[in-house]
Amino acid sequence: MCGIVGYHGHRKPKDIILDGLKTLEYRGYDSAGVAIFDHGQVKRIRAEGKLSKLESQLQSLDFDGRTGIGHTRWATHGTPSERNAHPHTVDGISIVHNGIIENYLEIRDYLLAMGRKISSDTDSELVAHLIAMEVPKTKDLLGAILNIIPKLEGAYSIVVIWDQKADEIVSFKSGPPLILGIGEKEHIIASDIQAIVPYTKNIIYLEDHEIAQIKGQHYTIYNSKGEVLKKPIVEMHWTVDRARKQGYPHFMLKEIYEQPRTVAAVVKPFISLDTETLDFSNLQKNSTIPDLESELQKLERLVIIGCGTSYYAGLTAEYFIEKIAQIPVEVELASEFRYRNPFLPKNTMVLFISQSGETADTVAALRKVKDMGFYTMSLCNVPHSTIDREAHVRMYMNCDAEVGVASTKAFTASIAFLNIFSLYLGKLKNKVNVAAEKSHVRDVMDLPAQMEKALSYADFFKDHAESLKTFKGFLFIGRGVSYPIALEGALKLKEITYLHSEGYAAGEMKHGPIALVDNKMCVIAIAPKDELFEKTISNVEELNARGANIVSLGTGQNEKLKRLSQQGYLALPDAHWSLTPILSVIPLQLMAYHLSNSLGYDVDQPRNLAKSVTVE
Ligand code: G6P
Repeated sequence: MCGIVGYHGHRKPKDIILDGLKTLEYRGYDSAGVAIFDHGQVKRIRAEGKLSKLESQLQSLDFDGRTGIGHTRWATHGTPSERNAHPHTVDGISIVHNGIIENYLEIRDYLLAMGRKISSDTDSELVAHLIAMEVPKTKDLLGAILNIIPKLEGAYSIVVIWDQKADEIVSFKSGPPLILGIGEKEHIIASDIQAIVPYTKNIIYLEDHEIAQIKGQHYTIYNSKGEVLKKPIVEMHWTVDRARKQGYPHFMLKEIYEQPRTVAAVVKPFISLDTETLDFSNLQKNSTIPDLESELQKLERLVIIGCGTSYYAGLTAEYFIEKIAQIPVEVELASEFRYRNPFLPKNTMVLFISQSGETADTVAALRKVKDMGFYTMSLCNVPHSTIDREAHVRMYMNCDAEVGVASTKAFTASIAFLNIFSLYLGKLKNKVNVAAEKSHVRDVMDLPAQMEKALSYADFFKDHAESLKTFKGFLFIGRGVSYPIALEGALKLKEITYLHSEGYAAGEMKHGPIALVDNKMCVIAIAPKDELFEKTISNVEELNARGANIVSLGTGQNEKLKRLSQQGYLALPDAHWSLTPILSVIPLQLMAYHLSNSLGYDVDQPRNLAKSVTVE
């Protein structure tokens, strides 16, 4: 969603803020702006649309100040327009804001009653008014902010400058992330680590209700009472290179091709190569549960919670955790779970999957589970993110920065990790013997090479994109562990091509979706050779009889499936049934990518979507 960058230091802020905002473009936005000190005053430039528009307006401008803030806005209150773009400036107070002020109507009425003139449709401008009304009394920015925080309800991270203080930035949050980067005689405050890593690895994650003040060469963190806090500085190991396209035309394509490496990287810390067995002994280090292993041994139910692609990773894992570890699993959408009255029996643990570690609904669900007194585990990609910090057991996707809005490598890394985690749980529960463990571990080790083969289907979709994009709709079908892959395939396609696509359990066709099928419909059948193959083939036959155009994914040269697949048959390598999702999702990612490209869309920044959904 929206991106924030603020800078004070020895360099000129314009370029640092613009570069920072560029690294945050992937989060999704529809307008952008900056406010930077120049000759003792704050100059504000804003533009609707892409950052390049703002950049060209800024090109000829030079700012002599050393302090500035910038923002990319994803519209919530008020249309995307220059008028609604951030920063909002009121009486010398300029602010940028991520999130939603829920009591904005109440604040608006109050401000109107006070005779204030409101010039945008945003909730954010109202906060600038509140601060502007306060500074004449407090004569200082921090004091004004401390006074107005109790008036705000909702989720926000806000960064403020005042034209009376050319060397000061104050920021505060309750909800969306804010990170302070501490450099040599310079500080950066940003909503995302990627805007900071080019300048410093030393960072402080602000917690809710904390305030960061940058003043001259120093910073101070306060709590909401204005008391100084001592916060640990953490070192971030992401490099700038990892967030670059490295010669690929899009981040999404780069991330698709990285998957053999990232899948190998996520399982490596938990596999002993010499003995070809699992080694989860390091997990205890990432846990605040004193005896994690005995807690997992007692586990009688696992609940998995996530949103979007992370939810589908959970749905996929449900199949193999139930079968391999023989533990009942329930998978929940965070946005539903957080408002239900869920019943969690004793010896339940809850696992949260989140690439960003910042998705608002998932964060809320995590806090709810903790309030209910249950142990929580997280599987995140971004270390030190909110979910990572707050869970009792921290596990990682370990796949470097994922920038493409349509998630790819985080999905396969999650499934690969959860696959070996299910084996580990099975061992703890005495459901897996050593021979089965070794054979499974060998299958996992073979996986990256097999993934390379799945990547070779890029050419198929490149060549067929022109014809495939003409279909009126797409049905993705699969059974068992291939069912969540059908859901994920359909999600990828709709996210970046805007074509209508649906994922369905193949066995559900007759209960409705088959009515959609005619010769303008394309069906993508995911039918690896497993115990449900014959069942899926019957469904494909029925769809074929009704004129559907079928592309199928099977194992090896499966003549039966090939015969039914007029639009193409993609042969995947033979793998353990629980690992086939990692192979079959790759062609579906490539399909979405090449169709989107051929339709001329912005693959990495699809319309209306954001990488990290930090508001409800
Ligand atoms: C957004 C992204 C999706 C992602 C979902 C959950 O919708 O566009 O790609 O799957 O959020 O994100 P998370 O960071 O919690 O995995």
